[in-house]
Amino acid sequence: VKKLLVDVDCGVDDAQAIMMALAVPDVQILGITCVHGNVSVENVCKNVLRVLKVCDQMEIPVFRGASKPLLGDVLTASHFHGIDGLGDAPDPNAPGEELAQEEGAVSAIIRIIDEHPGEVSIVATAPLTNLALAVRLDPTLPQKLKSLYIMGGNTDSRGNTTMCGEFNFAADPEAAYIVLNDYLCPTYIACWEFTCLSKLSWEFCDVWLAQDTDKARFMKKIFQHSIDMCNSERIEKELVSGTGLISCDSYAMAAAVDDMFIIESDHKAVTVELTGKHTRGMMVVDHLDLLEKTHKVHIMKKVDLERFKKLMMNALK
Ligand code: BDR
Ligand code: CA
Repeated sequence: VKKLLVDVDCGVDDAQAIMMALAVPDVQILGITCVHGNVSVENVCKNVLRVLKVCDQMEIPVFRGASKPLLGDVLTASHFHGIDGLGDAPDPNAPGEELAQEEGAVSAIIRIIDEHPGEVSIVATAPLTNLALAVRLDPTLPQKLKSLYIMGGNTDSRGNTTMCGEFNFAADPEAAYIVLNDYLCPTYIACWEFTCLSKLSWEFCDVWLAQDTDKARFMKKIFQHSIDMCNSERIEKELVSGTGLISCDSYAMAAAVDDMFIIESDHKAVTVELTGKHTRGMMVVDHLDLLEKTHKVHIMKKVDLERFKKLMMNALK
């Protein structure tokens, strides 16, 4: 059994990633920790509970985490994910935020990893504030982790939020810096450009959403806002080579739940730019080994999209 802790800022693609993991039989989600990002942490908690309800898995504990980055202003992405983070298609019977646990996300991360040393992988699909705080409280945490999967960062200077910054890193550059430098465990990163280049077709999207299940009907409802955005001219210009279904966070999740998913990756040291006027929040790949870091991360390059499609289909079955 693969034991996962999932750290999210539950927008639409986080919801897709969570649903993917919930549908894999040998995966056990020990907890879902929430953090600011696409929307406020309160909305993130509500959104996660809503996803768990649709999937009939309300027993998975949900923890509320950081409401702001370590430094700087809060960034959100509600233009893309909707004001509520799930496409502004509210469910009047959605569970309330009070169903989240009393315990905070950062202490839950530390506790859960302590309870299963060497067995837990973290999948982080959000600004890395919770993870940075956790390693500051427990510096031994990374050595007790099995592995870490991150959606975030970029490998060239093309951002999706700031000129050079991908959203999850740009929304808390210091946290991304701390995590990439201090989590000395096997680390796999799905960067922005990689997710764009691994997009699925809109034809697949139609088949995916047309499944006759409550989960597919839910996804269709919450996803419409992002689909409209993807088809708009503005986003089309931003994306690498045209539009298509890009479920960014699902690539990090697919790597965590399926050992055969990654076909090729680069093994490099990386860091995050913290001071550049135009480049703050940008991931920097140390191609020349000038940082002399022994810790290298796996930057996904090529993945098995047929396996990915199966995982996506099963998520809504
Ligand atoms: C990332 O930013 C968020 O909007 C998505 O949920 C994803 O985690 C993509 O840059
Ligand atoms: Ca996310």
